[in-house]
Amino acid sequence: MKNSRTLYVCQSCGYQTPKWLGRCSDCGQWNSLVEERTESPSQHGFVPAGCPPQTIAAISLDPQPRLKTGILEFDRILGGGLVPGSLVLIGGDPGIGKSTLVLQVASRLCRSGLKSLYVSGEESPQQIKLRAERISIHAGELFVLAATCIEDLFDRMETLQPRLLIVDSIQTIYTNTLPSAPGSVGQVREVSARLLTWAKRTSVPVFLVGHVTKEGAIAGPKVLEHIVDTVLYFEGERSHAFRILRAVKNRYGSTNEIGVFEMKDTGLEEVGNPSRIFLEERPEGASGSVVLPCLEGTRPLLVEIQALVGPSPLGMPRRTAIGVDHHRISLLVAVLGKRMGLEMGDQDIFVNVAGGLKVDEPGADLAIVSAMVSSFLDRAVDKDLVVFGEVGLAGEIRAVSQPEVRIKEAAKLGFRRCLLSRSNVSGPATSSGMELVGVESVKGLLDVLF
Ligand code: TYD
Ligand code: MG
Repeated sequence: MKNSRTLYVCQSCGYQTPKWLGRCSDCGQWNSLVEERTESPSQHGFVPAGCPPQTIAAISLDPQPRLKTGILEFDRILGGGLVPGSLVLIGGDPGIGKSTLVLQVASRLCRSGLKSLYVSGEESPQQIKLRAERISIHAGELFVLAATCIEDLFDRMETLQPRLLIVDSIQTIYTNTLPSAPGSVGQVREVSARLLTWAKRTSVPVFLVGHVTKEGAIAGPKVLEHIVDTVLYFEGERSHAFRILRAVKNRYGSTNEIGVFEMKDTGLEEVGNPSRIFLEERPEGASGSVVLPCLEGTRPLLVEIQALVGPSPLGMPRRTAIGVDHHRISLLVAVLGKRMGLEMGDQDIFVNVAGGLKVDEPGADLAIVSAMVSSFLDRAVDKDLVVFGEVGLAGEIRAVSQPEVRIKEAAKLGFRRCLLSRSNVSGPATSSGMELVGVESVKGLLDVLF
């Protein structure tokens, strides 16, 4: 393998050159050349050669039992536990808590007798020990190895034979068959492919930790998404204690699942009832605050949408959106002006989702509109009211998916009225005892809001 050559290959047209270029001289794309090792394709992949085609009915499934971590939020996101031989990528900003999460997961799995190896290219074993003490981990067979060379790592694993492998982070690991720096696209891809082959051959699950960074010398986990089986993103505002783990790809379960965690000084703790926590500090009776039952995957979540609308001293009034798409805000402001006669063109508008959460479903429209109207008119909405629905350009209020689930969650937390699209009301009757107020257009909004 040592004498295999490396080439730079353009990722958009396939042009090959022995020397790196900033711009592909064939198709003209910038920064598209990635170093690759030339070798026969059979060295990659895990599919045994010579397997004849078979009918789908004839394929036998040998269901491998999933490994449960006992951290319910985490198991649920994986689709009911960790599948042996799967490659799971955990991405997220630096400092968000990825190392803490994988360490906690490893310690749980160790407790059920699984020999685990935590490979760190970023921290020394002493640092890992300090973190483990802080989150009181006393796992028996949790081995720690500081290593950055993958050939060295494979040698060590030959003798240790771990049943769970954690690589923190994938950007620090390199193979000495490629001359480029650790963290470059070529290195990250090569190392991950080698780990994938290893995982499938040995049926050992592997966690890869990856930093999300801007385009540049360090390859972000984006280049890995198609290699691995499962991609989990760990997100949240670092200044807030809440962290959301989101499955964006899962070959063994549904995506769109989220798990909510809280970062405490003793590590990450799962949050069983996130709605209650996100609403905890809601200022009741204040204008500009509206509760939205949104859906995160299959899970309803109540969040508070806050808006602040006030006359702007600037020629170009500010539009700031945190946690929601700012294009959506501009669109909704235009609809309000045209369809409700509430002209906000000269107002500064700030919209925020409390608790550092991100909401990106159109079902949030009506709640955003209500919050803006409430702040603009400086009148508080009923504190027992929740609002959801999509707003169209004609000012019409459209139905959204799974109204029952949202209404049920709101009822569970003591809300009594729900403002929604009229077509959602005529849907399946709900037995939650909630008063449903259906509206057809934003024109009727003022009568029901206050
Ligand atoms: P870390 O897991 O190192 O983040 P990452 O691997 O994603 O870079 O932890 C990030 C932050 O979490 C760190 O700034 C300190 C904080 N933290 C706690 O608040 N409580 C804890 O118990 C631990 C271990 C970390
Ligand atoms: Mg880390």
